[in-house]
Amino acid sequence: MKTVLSIGGSVLVPDLDAGRVSDYADVVESLAAAGHDLGVVVGGGPTAREYIGAARSLGANEGELDQLGIDTTRLNARLLLAALDEDLASPTVPTNYEEAAESLHRDRVVVMGGVVPAQTTDAVSAALAEYVDADRLVFATSVPGVFDADPEEDPDAGRYEEMTASDLVELVASGESLGSAGSNAPIDLLAAKVLDRSGIEAVVLDGTDPEAVERAVLDNDYEGTRITPDYD
Ligand code: UTP
Repeated sequence: MKTVLSIGGSVLVPDLDAGRVSDYADVVESLAAAGHDLGVVVGGGPTAREYIGAARSLGANEGELDQLGIDTTRLNARLLLAALDEDLASPTVPTNYEEAAESLHRDRVVVMGGVVPAQTTDAVSAALAEYVDADRLVFATSVPGVFDADPEEDPDAGRYEEMTASDLVELVASGESLGSAGSNAPIDLLAAKVLDRSGIEAVVLDGTDPEAVERAVLDNDYEGTRITPDYD
């Protein structure tokens, strides 16, 4: 089974804790040992936000800030790579989907970060899943799924157990203002659109516990939101 695993930066590196990165590397290794062909996409998290915040106050423009964000996602990807068995993972961080696909083709676990400005690693994950014909995309985020309102602000917010990709597009589009570097949406609009056109099944779940992510990928056992193709 070919799986793309998107690990939010706030999930992998909420602070710089080597133990947490190592726990995630164990999960990646166990999924690979179970026969999954794995593409892993890592976000920038608080590191990206801090650098972007500082550079914004220094006068950098949005494109430059995005590039800084991309660099921090790649930094986090390198951190995860440092914890992975070197016989298992491709030693470099691909900077495009073609390179990533080539490594996957050579049976290597691929770990990558951002690619181009004006998006987040949500979109990278969806585009990678599409490019390599993944069977499934699992978003390990800091929220337990897709909600009909912001659960941090609205106590009545409800989680979708399941929704179609086109419904996700509508939901994200209705709530999303034009994002700027470092902004935070559950899954970005571009990612939702790529899921919609590619028909790849996705799961959005709370990835705070690496073992929960392992169960989700291995056994399809999770609490979160399943995003289905329209023709499912
Ligand atoms: P993230 O994907 O980490 O954004 O990229 P995020 O929504 O803050 O996610 P978490 O907190 O890690 O879960 C960080 C920033 O890097 C830039 C954007 O500015 C983004 O906000 N970026 C990332 C890009 O411009 N292009 C990419 O392909 C990836």
